[in-house]
Amino acid sequence: MLPRFQRFIRGAAVNWLGKWGVGLTTASFISIVLMEIARLSGVLTNAYIGLVSYLLFPALFVVGLMMIPLGWRRYQKTSGKSTRELLRERFDPTDVQASRLGARVLRIVVGLTAINFVFMGTVGMQMLKFMDGPNFCGTACHSVMNPEWTTYQDSPHARVKCVECHVGEGATALIDAKLNGVWQIVSSSLKLYHRPIPTPVTQLRPARETCEKCHWPAKFYGSRLKIIFSYAKDEASAQRYTTLNIKVDAGSAERRAGIHWHIARENEVRYASVDDKREEMIFVEVRQPDGSFKRYTNPSLSGRLPEKSAIRTMDCVDCHNRATHIYENPEKAIASRMQRGLLDRSLPFLYREGVTAITRNFNDLTAANQGIANHLRGFYERQFPDVARQKSAAIDSAIAVLQRVYARNIHHGMKITWGSYPNHIGHREGGGCFRCHNAKLRDADGKHISFDCTTCHSILAYNSNEPFEFLQPAHTEDRDFRMHKYLQNEFLNSYVE
Ligand code: HEC
Ligand code: HEC
Ligand code: HEC
Ligand code: HEC
Ligand code: HEC
Repeated sequence: MLPRFQRFIRGAAVNWLGKWGVGLTTASFISIVLMEIARLSGVLTNAYIGLVSYLLFPALFVVGLMMIPLGWRRYQKTSGKSTRELLRERFDPTDVQASRLGARVLRIVVGLTAINFVFMGTVGMQMLKFMDGPNFCGTACHSVMNPEWTTYQDSPHARVKCVECHVGEGATALIDAKLNGVWQIVSSSLKLYHRPIPTPVTQLRPARETCEKCHWPAKFYGSRLKIIFSYAKDEASAQRYTTLNIKVDAGSAERRAGIHWHIARENEVRYASVDDKREEMIFVEVRQPDGSFKRYTNPSLSGRLPEKSAIRTMDCVDCHNRATHIYENPEKAIASRMQRGLLDRSLPFLYREGVTAITRNFNDLTAANQGIANHLRGFYERQFPDVARQKSAAIDSAIAVLQRVYARNIHHGMKITWGSYPNHIGHREGGGCFRCHNAKLRDADGKHISFDCTTCHSILAYNSNEPFEFLQPAHTEDRDFRMHKYLQNEFLNSYVE
């Protein structure tokens, strides 16, 4: 069997092209098999190895295979011989002899082709699996996806595959994604992509089909207590608390509805925005199972026709648009490092100077690292020379923390800076919930969607020295007595129907 096979290979590889083809294919085949054995036995564990074993070598394998008939064609052309003559010249007469099942050469070709198909099919399946892995999506075109990869790894979904949110289930989703992927490869090789990558992602699957695979909608009840730490811009970087009891409940016949009301099965909220940034609403409408229908319109925009893509049924990502690619804002970034004890608050004005250092303009990461170090060290050397000497190590470690905050959030290559990707949870700078919950959108009776401060959360402390300030007894002589009492009662009553 083996000598016959060797004879066949020698016959088929007619010139340098064919010989290189055979060499390349054989070498790739052996490499793929060896690497797969090494991977299965746990010797190779590097996550990027798939790039070589499922992409590079299979590609070389196919190129090598194609070189063999190409070599044959070329040889035929230069020698001017017919296929029949060539076959006779290259192979043993017994091999080309016609038989009932076709000449032996033909049988070998068919057999080998079948084996190749099975082999490439298996490798192809492995390749699809590998390409669905976050390592591939996040790192294959490193410079483009690095921001998403960085923010993803530092998020509650760091163990969820990119494709579980971006592709979803089903064959059409897969085909769509692969076609889109081909375009992405072209556009990233030719640098045709936008920087930063535009958001919202218009071809994202309806979030309910993806997010609800893991987040059981019936569980969306109750409320969530959240304490937000902030720090004063004073010498001590004094710690302050803002405490919210966020009313997440989706509501039901018995329970009052809260924030997840928008996505309760029976409610449908649709909206149209002026463009597909989804920031400025032309109208918002609500349809409910009892047949009731309400539409809130912004009269100053009523002449504007929305782009087709900008009419949308509200889903999870209209609020949780930063479910995983979470970019911090500079104040919160520093505050969270202080809260975790990574920044030593005994360094005077550390909060204020930290925020200043990371929000200066730098041309690239190297300049930023240098600039942040110069800023902080320079500040202490000029204003607090004693501290600069005695707490040199604490300053160095603060510099390193600030540099990491900068590198996590700012990506010069993709033109991502502070605020490039706004977060719709909440209402920083007026966006988020206030895109709809505002006074501009009115229904037929002139009513607007509620924006009372306690519609969405009880407020238990607001930049206070104590985390539960408004739960403490209120004193009539206090300046904010009435507000204090109001917020206290609102919270206590929010649990009483
Ligand atoms: C938990 C779900 C989830 C996972 C996991 C996830 N993404 Fe996203 N991704 C989103 C959402 C939501 C958006 C924003 C969609 C919008 O605003 O329309 C987004 C946006 C993006 C964008 C557009 C730029 C931006 O930040 O808005 C890119 C590129 C992207 N994701 C790539 C990835 C890659 C690569 C991975 C894996 C390393 C990944 N995503 C994992 C949910 C996810
Ligand atoms: C494959 C499963 C999976 C999918 C798909 C998924 N998530 Fe999650 N999500 C999780 C898990 C697990 C956690 C909890 C992580 C933890 O607490 O460590 C989580 C946490 C969250 C949280 C809470 C974060 C916090 O602050 O505690 C939100 C909000 C969230 N997901 C929203 C979404 C949205 C929106 C989508 C769709 C775009 C989505 N998830 C898709 C598994 C998933
Ligand atoms: C109207 C805006 C909005 C929509 C739409 C929305 N959410 Fe939320 N969701 C919130 C807010 C606000 C919170 C509480 C914020 C926080 O925990 O920081 C929250 C909290 C959560 C949590 C954490 C709950 C907890 O108690 O820990 C999960 C998980 C979550 N949402 C998933 C989803 C999923 C999945 C969808 C789509 C089916 C969705 N959300 C739709 C605004 C929304
Ligand atoms: C796309 C528009 C839109 C956005 C964005 C939006 N909402 Fe709403 N919200 C509505 C509409 C419409 C209603 C229903 C008003 C009515 O009853 O007529 C509503 C109702 C509510 C209710 C009251 C539910 C009830 O009936 O008791 C809460 C709470 C709420 N939203 C919280 C939020 C929060 C928190 C956010 C931001 C994370 C948010 N909404 C973002 C449109 C929106
Ligand atoms: C439509 C719902 C809604 C309304 C109305 C609303 N908020 Fe909020 N608010 C939120 C949500 C959601 C968050 C974000 C919670 C989180 O961080 O997860 C938030 C966050 C906050 C924060 C914390 C900001 C931070 O530092 O992160 C404060 C303070 C606050 N709200 C105060 C107010 C006040 C004062 C009003 C009245 C003018 C108000 N809110 C009205 C939904 C609302």
